[in-house]
Amino acid sequence: MSSCRRLLGVLAGCLAAGVRGQRANYPLTSDSNCACYQTNETASQFLSHHKFFDFRSLPQYVHVPKAVDDPASSAGAGVSSSYFASRDWKSSWEIQSWNNSDTLPRGNQTNTTISDATVLMVNSPSNVYLESNTDARPSSQTYLTMRTVRHATFQSAAEIESAALDFRYLSVRMKARTKGSPGAITAMFTYRPAQDMAKVQEADLEVRTADPSYSIQYTNQPSWNDDGDVPGATRNISDPRHVDWGGLAGPPNGLDPQGEPLLSTISFQVPRDGSQVIFNSWSNGGSWSGNSEHSRPVQPHMDSTIPCCAC
Ligand SMILES: *[C@@H]1O[C@H](CO)[C@@H](O)[C@H](O)[C@H]1NC(C)=O
Ligand SMILES: *[C@@H]1O[C@H](CO)[C@@H](O)[C@H](O)[C@H]1NC(C)=O
Ligand SMILES: *[C@@H]1O[C@H](CO)[C@@H](O)[C@H](O)[C@H]1NC(C)=O
Ligand SMILES: *[C@@H]1O[C@H](CO)[C@@H](O)[C@H](O)[C@H]1NC(C)=O
Ligand SMILES: *[C@@H]1O[C@H](CO)[C@@H](O)[C@H](O)[C@H]1NC(C)=O
Repeated sequence: MSSCRRLLGVLAGCLAAGVRGQRANYPLTSDSNCACYQTNETASQFLSHHKFFDFRSLPQYVHVPKAVDDPASSAGAGVSSSYFASRDWKSSWEIQSWNNSDTLPRGNQTNTTISDATVLMVNSPSNVYLESNTDARPSSQTYLTMRTVRHATFQSAAEIESAALDFRYLSVRMKARTKGSPGAITAMFTYRPAQDMAKVQEADLEVRTADPSYSIQYTNQPSWNDDGDVPGATRNISDPRHVDWGGLAGPPNGLDPQGEPLLSTISFQVPRDGSQVIFNSWSNGGSWSGNSEHSRPVQPHMDSTIPCCAC
């Protein structure tokens, strides 16, 4: 997806514009002063709609729920605060509670075309919450966290899906970090399901916590089939600046959007039809995510998420 490749750079530009104008403790880029909703860097056309989600100053909604140790209760847990029940949130996002039980092997009936998951994974609304930023030099007061945790008998995960299913041209920008032990994935992607796996349209940006802290995986699905891996469907990119996905620092040369390198383009199965936007944090014990360690949570902290869109 063309939008993914500019993700980090363009958002950095957005934030830089806000930071330059103010010297407050928690400089906030606002919707109105963030003028980067262009379709791309070379054309001055603007997308017809945009949305801006800012999690940096929401202390009234801070609540870090205890991870729920039972699969059914984990799925059934309520939202962590009233923020996630607000009209503003719910008009754009749906917090998920589905599980992967239908893809798990029964006896030795694994169908690796679908999944090689080995662990029950349950999405829990209690894994999506706002928390206080306790960094030594915080760049915000609060942030959104999407947590995934390995429990004794299952993995709880976090997923938010856009309520809109019909994004056709899209630029999605996010400032986030991923922290935690090897064996999990944090992701931002577009998704259009299909009965026939070959017709799925999906453009992924993923961080694998098992990978080096500057590796990012970009994939257009389906990246494999019964014949094996599809050539050119995925790219494992080492950020040339070694920007750390677990760190707080931006690129070493500052936040200059013109100076951001293009990291990846993929021409295989480029999404063409209306799609959803999804963020998640997960592990299923399969070969892609790896196996998450018991009780070691992986928590991508999204300081802000800025989907910009045109339908
Ligand atoms: C940017 O958009 C313009 C107009 O839509 C297009 O002609 C141009 O090729 C695009 N550039 C890139 C780098 O995608
Ligand atoms: C998984 O989801 C299915 C279908 O919604 C449901 O019937 C089942 O109870 C769930 N299993 C667990 C362990 O949550
Ligand atoms: C399951 O695995 C065993 C041992 O590898 C094999 O003998 C058996 O045929 C398999 N069963 C099925 C249904 O594939
Ligand atoms: C696995 O599942 C896919 C998708 O449902 C199907 O097309 C394929 O035939 C299955 N393969 C096996 C070996 O069962
Ligand atoms: C991605 O590349 C890095 C080296 O740059 C490597 O350590 C890592 O295992 C690779 N990840 C995958 C999924 O191939």
